[in-house]
Amino acid sequence: MSTLFDTTPKAATSPAASPPTGRARIMAISSGKGGVGKTFLSANLAAALAKRGEKVLVLDADLGLANLDVVLNLFPKITLHDVFTHKATLEQAILPAPGGFSVLLAGSGMVEYSRLTADVREKLLAVIQQVAPRFDRILLDTGAGISDVVLYAISLADDVLIVATPEPTSLTDAYATIKVLASQQNRRNIKLVVNQVNRVGDGRVIRGQLQQVVDRFVNPNLSYAIGETPLRLDLLGEIPIDLSVREAIQKRRLLLDWVPGCEAARGIRAVAENLSP
Ligand SMILES: Nc1ncnc2c1ncn2[C@@H]1O[C@H](COP(=O)(O)OP(=O)(O)O)[C@@H](O)[C@H]1O
Ligand SMILES: [Mg+2]
Repeated sequence: MSTLFDTTPKAATSPAASPPTGRARIMAISSGKGGVGKTFLSANLAAALAKRGEKVLVLDADLGLANLDVVLNLFPKITLHDVFTHKATLEQAILPAPGGFSVLLAGSGMVEYSRLTADVREKLLAVIQQVAPRFDRILLDTGAGISDVVLYAISLADDVLIVATPEPTSLTDAYATIKVLASQQNRRNIKLVVNQVNRVGDGRVIRGQLQQVVDRFVNPNLSYAIGETPLRLDLLGEIPIDLSVREAIQKRRLLLDWVPGCEAARGIRAVAENLSP
């Protein structure tokens, strides 16, 4: 789904379509519900992908309540806010993060960007268009919910990764997000990571449950152009609930550096492997 440089209404493309050459593959990380692990996953997945040789940028697209800087223990002097207000160049705002990737942080001065005005649209699009040619992959760590800003950030991405946990509230929010993305953005392939699972295999079960609801209530209502297929959820992996995750976040360290051998770190590396085999 190549939407970034193309403002025509979206037509579904093959889910496995390759990224346009010469620019990063952009993946939005979203969830519906907050506190499920989007920011934790964005940071650690970026580190895992960087280790696999990719040049990765994480953009804190949670413009209203940014906290990627906290997870990465960065104290940025320059943020997206400065770029948006022409106080700094993009060059100055792209910072190296521990883990071997780059970040564009939103910082805390961004509350005024939590509403999707024409200005916010233009600025976010311009920033992403400028950075896209310089990376292999861009991860957009979005905010919770399905506000206009979140949906707009997702619309700029080639892929969407939904993070869900086994909690019923997370699953209903994940479903609501998937439904909106199918109808408003004509998404036909959505990636799924199930975080905070209690047992090995829970990810597969939850993907099955979500797919069943999608098949029953979403897929029959979509319109299909010739060659278009129903929406499919693609499980990229599961990450166990793990005390080390909390510890790493408290210490403001990447889990992949702090406890690289723990099960959750393994789960994240498996997600990275599924993304870039
Ligand atoms: N796999 C996990 N095991 C244990 N705790 C986790 C796990 N993933 C996330 N958490 C907890 O959830 C909290 C919220 O994560 P965060 O990434 O900030 O969520 P979001 O960005 O979706 O709002 C983290 O601070 C951490 O304590
Ligand atoms: Mg977050």
